[in-house]
Amino acid sequence: MNKIKVGILGATGSVGQKFVSLLANHPWFEIAEVAASGQSAGKRYSEACRWIQKTAIPENVGCLEVKECKPGMDCQIVFSGLDASVAGEIEGQFAQAGYGVFSNARNYRLEEDVPIIIPEVNDNHIQLLEIQKEKRKWPGFIITNPNCSTVFLAMVLHPLHKRFKVEKVSVVTMQAVSGAGYPGVPSLDILGNVLPFIPGEEEKIEKETQKILGTFKQGKIENADIALSVQCNRVAVEDGHIECVSIKLKKDATEREIKESLQNFKSSPQLLKLPSAPEQPIILTGDPFHPQPKYDVMQAEGMAAIVGRLRKCPVLDYRMVILGHNTIRGAAGASILNAELLIKRGLLNKFVSV
Ligand SMILES: NC(=O)c1ccc[n+]([C@@H]2O[C@H](COP(=O)([O-])OP(=O)(O)OC[C@H]3O[C@@H](n4cnc5c(N)ncnc54)[C@H](OP(=O)(O)O)[C@@H]3O)[C@@H](O)[C@H]2O)c1
Repeated sequence: MNKIKVGILGATGSVGQKFVSLLANHPWFEIAEVAASGQSAGKRYSEACRWIQKTAIPENVGCLEVKECKPGMDCQIVFSGLDASVAGEIEGQFAQAGYGVFSNARNYRLEEDVPIIIPEVNDNHIQLLEIQKEKRKWPGFIITNPNCSTVFLAMVLHPLHKRFKVEKVSVVTMQAVSGAGYPGVPSLDILGNVLPFIPGEEEKIEKETQKILGTFKQGKIENADIALSVQCNRVAVEDGHIECVSIKLKKDATEREIKESLQNFKSSPQLLKLPSAPEQPIILTGDPFHPQPKYDVMQAEGMAAIVGRLRKCPVLDYRMVILGHNTIRGAAGASILNAELLIKRGLLNKFVSV
């Protein structure tokens, strides 16, 4: 098949660079355009961005001219790693101009007609695109992926919710510094320290999880009836968010049943063999000293949720530790998987007009 031309908005940032590195050898997509702020526009990509990835800048992208984030780009799809302060307006302009926008920013996630998709969990929420089209009259669309902590929590809760009905969840996160972009948190604030507040993050994880695990009914998402209490911390880790999670279930479950539900979980991306799908979306470890960001975050190329320390909880029912790569499955990799799903379902040309 001919490769589909894609553009990256916010291509010079931490998430934008991850898009560039993950799309470099993608079987279906070709990076045709890179765009960022006025400060970077007009420069060659390799000059405009301070490259912080561990692989080299792909040559064919390094020599591209960085454009301003304005429609008129030569592509059908744009992946957005834009800062939230500008994402709302710019992503809206692209959808209005007929592009398919896959967004990482928070701006549209909680809008009634915009889906937050995790293909393993709620691929049926794609039906919201019909509602979006009807309501906004956009010749393009916006699909979002969740916040970088929400995605791993929702992936793990989903098979448990389906089988045992999750009632309550308590979460404490330890989030990597790469989650704050580049240059991000000043080194003097984070070295030898823990920051016990990430503005807006706790509310995002609580609300997004309820929406993602919700049910599509009569053109709307009915939020899942799950009570969540989330506390977020920034820690001096480069990549990989840890979540210490306790859950209460409505139905009785043995530890073995919980393990089976997580370990055997497979869904649409695996069945459809999407190029970026992890073979196993949830990887369980029995080693009590794992998962650790330093050693485990790149399992399944950063696309899986790694679960360890599964055991009984004396307050709720069960507790565990979840790890995930915040800029891969927590951001760029999640958007790419969403685009692959849409294409495999034959929906791209139905919803874009460029
Ligand atoms: N980092 C993560 O783990 C993570 C995970 C999930 C979601 N996200 C979300 O993804 C988005 C990007 O995060 P990040 O960590 O990559 O941030 P970042 O490193 O600060 O990058 C921000 C990008 O936005 C561009 N930009 C800033 N102002 C602009 C403007 N006025 N017009 C056009 N482009 C502009 C920047 O371009 P210049 O270089 O030209 O300034 C840069 O390319 C945010 O919405 C964030 O919340 C991040």
